[in-house]
Amino acid sequence: MTHDAIAVVDFGGQYAHLIATKVRRQGVLAEILQPEDPLDAFRTYRGIILSGSPSLSSEDEDSDYTKEVFDLDVPILGLCFGHQEVAKHYGGGVIQGGKEWGRASLHVLRDHPLFAGLDPVEQVWMSHNDTVVSLGGDFVELGYTASPDGTPDHRNAAIGSDTLRRYGFQFHAEVDDTTHGDRMLANFVLGICGCTPSWSIDAFMDTERARLRARVGTESVFLLASGGVDSTVAALVLKEALGPDRVHLIHVDNGLMRKDESRQVLAMFGRLDLGDHLHFVDASDDFLAALDGLVDPEAKRRAIGNTFIEVFEREAKALGLEDHLLGQGTIYPDTIETGGTRRADVIKTHHNRVPIIEEMIARGRVVEPLADLYKVEVRELGKRLNVPEEVLWRHPFPGPGLGVRLLCGHGEPDVEGLEGVQESLDRELAGTGLQAMALPIRSVGVKADLRAYEHPVLLTGPSSWEGLLSASSAITARIPGINRCLWNLGERAPDWALPLPAYVTRERLALLREADQLVMDALVRHGIYGELWQCPTVLVPLSLDETGGETVVLRPVRSQRAMTATPVELPGALLDELRRGLLSLPGVSSLALDITSKPPGTIEWE
Ligand code: XMP
Repeated sequence: MTHDAIAVVDFGGQYAHLIATKVRRQGVLAEILQPEDPLDAFRTYRGIILSGSPSLSSEDEDSDYTKEVFDLDVPILGLCFGHQEVAKHYGGGVIQGGKEWGRASLHVLRDHPLFAGLDPVEQVWMSHNDTVVSLGGDFVELGYTASPDGTPDHRNAAIGSDTLRRYGFQFHAEVDDTTHGDRMLANFVLGICGCTPSWSIDAFMDTERARLRARVGTESVFLLASGGVDSTVAALVLKEALGPDRVHLIHVDNGLMRKDESRQVLAMFGRLDLGDHLHFVDASDDFLAALDGLVDPEAKRRAIGNTFIEVFEREAKALGLEDHLLGQGTIYPDTIETGGTRRADVIKTHHNRVPIIEEMIARGRVVEPLADLYKVEVRELGKRLNVPEEVLWRHPFPGPGLGVRLLCGHGEPDVEGLEGVQESLDRELAGTGLQAMALPIRSVGVKADLRAYEHPVLLTGPSSWEGLLSASSAITARIPGINRCLWNLGERAPDWALPLPAYVTRERLALLREADQLVMDALVRHGIYGELWQCPTVLVPLSLDETGGETVVLRPVRSQRAMTATPVELPGALLDELRRGLLSLPGVSSLALDITSKPPGTIEWE
């Protein structure tokens, strides 16, 4: 069957693939094209969507693409960078400035088919450095964003020309935090482009089954199976496509797992009938040796990813499976955050995308049945394959495990980029009753599609949740060098923040494991677990008081696809319980809550 289809042009934004997924959710096939693909490649589509990008449209970066697409007689919608390119192509002006991160209120100015069925004010999600300041031709402003009192502060947030059928949104309609983004995309794809829906997850499964059989041929697969939902669903998909005897599973205890994790995983594989060709190896010594003395987040990630492959190859040899293809449960965000599309910036190197694996992929030795999917789709597939609800809805746990939640340092203050920041913080918080301290450590974040390895700010003082969130977004948007805000759960503002020398050791891992278990148990007991996407517990080697203990940070977030996330307010009784429990762990003396959205803070700290 041929489907009506939309071309998504991938300029390297973090969400380019998400646009395609969201269009497919409307039942319309969407395919990713590269900006320099020849014009003929675009001709079969009923509409084109231009993605965001880490490049600056104002500086004409990445301007060397197939501009003839603008001559095609099909509707075009630009998002973020794509929006700026649409405006510029038709004589509009784009300048650097007017940054916005996170939530904004879009005020819709006209009764337009793109906003059919929507409210006059819509919550949208922003992540941009450039702004459209003037419009050419017969383009008109369809909406602007405004501060809470309704004063317009960013014009041209939505623009369009109905005669040309060219449109642009400065915001990301494709992310879940744009509340009615799906409706906006449906209005474009089904309404303006006139596509008829015919695509589904079953259609995906049929295509994937056939693709896997052709891809694997007569070979067999040895799958790295952590027991998370991705690798478990990948195992079941492979088993269904290839038959049980051609799929072997290896579960590696990397020493960075949660408490009692491997025992539970092995039991779960047994229940899912995946136990016949299942191998287990305790490789915690190898991983600890590889991480010894490392502090840089990317160096730690590479060490973990490489050790997985060393252990895999050693075990494959010992079991006589060395001719098997390597199977992985990689999903799309793993690829995109590792800069896996041609233009995307490397935010973090995911454990399944380290250079050795990239090299094996280039040699055709890796099979990844879920590489085009997001977690929601993996869960949907898992449901069809009878994966129990408690496995499907377990919080995701990253491949490098506690390794990326155990910050390390040599005990020296890292203050790069903090010059003048205290004055800016004091100015920003004047009149709020909050005190702020920029911390002399860094964590990974993402700003306007680029990796941001920057400092957190610790806020202390009484405030409403909304007050905290608005302080957090103002600080991270306006003060360079800051990508996260924390709320101090201690009673008073610290006088200092002393960096401690700290590395990945069995002792610190054991401490973090206890803290993580305590948090997970409390979330379940208070009925909050299911409301959260994840709640990483992070151990930060910073002492905020005279006892010299470390700081624990909690990162409860809501998300659907992990490409964006919002921090979650925890009930007072739960916080009190966590405060008591965590501060009684030997070696922990301070506690803070991460109140940063993604962007600018990623979910994990490293
Ligand atoms: P960030 O921290 O980038 O994480 O906002 C997005 C999601 O990805 C998970 N994550 C990983 N998963 N291997 C994985 O399998 C990795 O190396 C990795 N790093 C982050 C993270 O837990 C979150 O759900």
